[in-house]
Amino acid sequence: MERGSFGTKIGVILATAGSAVGLGNIWRFPYMTGENGGAAFIFIYLICVFILGIPGMIAEFIIGRHSAANAVRAYKNMGGKCWSYVGLMGAITSMIILGFYAVIAGWCLQYLYAALMGNIGGDVTSVQNYFKEFVSNPIEPIVWTITFILITHFVVTKGVKKGIEKVSNILMPTLFVLLLIIVISSCTLPGAIKGIEFLFYPDFSKVTSKVLLDALGQGFFSLSLGTACLCTYASYFSRQTDLLKSSIQIAGIDTIIAIFAGLMIFPAAFSVGVNPDSGPALIFITLPNVFQQAFGSLPVFAYIIGVLFYALLALAALTSTISMHEIGTAFFFEELHISRKKGAWIETGICICIGILCSLSQGAAKINIFGVDFLSCCDFLTSDILLPLGSFLTCILIGRVVDKHVVKDEFTNWGTVSRSFYAIWLFGIRWVCPICIIFVFLHQLHII
Ligand code: PHE
Repeated sequence: MERGSFGTKIGVILATAGSAVGLGNIWRFPYMTGENGGAAFIFIYLICVFILGIPGMIAEFIIGRHSAANAVRAYKNMGGKCWSYVGLMGAITSMIILGFYAVIAGWCLQYLYAALMGNIGGDVTSVQNYFKEFVSNPIEPIVWTITFILITHFVVTKGVKKGIEKVSNILMPTLFVLLLIIVISSCTLPGAIKGIEFLFYPDFSKVTSKVLLDALGQGFFSLSLGTACLCTYASYFSRQTDLLKSSIQIAGIDTIIAIFAGLMIFPAAFSVGVNPDSGPALIFITLPNVFQQAFGSLPVFAYIIGVLFYALLALAALTSTISMHEIGTAFFFEELHISRKKGAWIETGICICIGILCSLSQGAAKINIFGVDFLSCCDFLTSDILLPLGSFLTCILIGRVVDKHVVKDEFTNWGTVSRSFYAIWLFGIRWVCPICIIFVFLHQLHII
């Protein structure tokens, strides 16, 4: 049974950054920033990425690279049988995330199609109605969801080097260029400066415990922490990959793209006097209108920006769904001793079922759990419970269970790199990360 591996250093960085960069950056980060008052939230977010994200990412990398196996076997290798359940939890978490993430990615495909056809726009009420009617349709969103999962499936079955790495090497630079075009257009609008100020001049009087903890939660989701996703990708890393340097580069790319997403949305929103605090619907309800008003004097330009924007979202989502799909595919392939193709089909089948339920719960059918629709339930269960729990247990495994020599050898590439940072990182993994995670966890569950 042949395991794949990434072929080049840049391939490692782009594929892993591709997992991190997704709807979390372009959909979730801007609305979180909007809801939490702007620059002060970003400032705290940056601190979280630095003290929590980078050390946590390295811990997952160590488990994956040391074991060179799927997540379940990797956790078992490092800590014994009971730790394999943490890997399994990661694989299940990623299936659930993929299920609902593909629904939102499917909406992006529909909006891309509608933007191409010139069908998005009109006044605020018609944009709102368009969204409501579309998501509560029983067929269309499901077709887009399944299409998105099948595209992901197709890339994953091509293998690690020829599928995941190759597609990431093309998509990531494309995504960056598209983003840059929209950022420049948005920042040169009249009155855009107010949006830029909103992003970069912090008002610390607005910092509440919610802002602090939302920033931490956003950090987990955006860096794909706690799902065994980074661990699975690291199982394809070579012994020469510098884990500290790579994690800094990946977190750096992820953060730059999130800030660029802010620079794309807020200057345009402020320029037309729209308040950017409309929550999760920001990019589907508020933005079509913002683009239309902002670039209204040049309809062709408004059309191009709309198309580019939804293309950008779909591409960013794809590099993330590929990484989520790979966790389950590698697991089924290696543990059930079947072909990679068959493993991928099992993962695809499960995710399509979850996706259909999530999609239907948006209005077409009443699929509620404790009065909350199924999609929101999946989001809550994964982002607020399973991700922090997975990260917490990973920190405990690496910081307190695994032999220190193994950990040190992996961190320093057998004494050749980053030796002086080892002690600081270990302190972070043993103390800072677990304590912060417990704090987020209790807050998310409204215990503190
Ligand atoms: N990090 C991805 C994003 O920002 C989401 C993700 C979560 C991907 C967990 C993989 C695993 O959109």
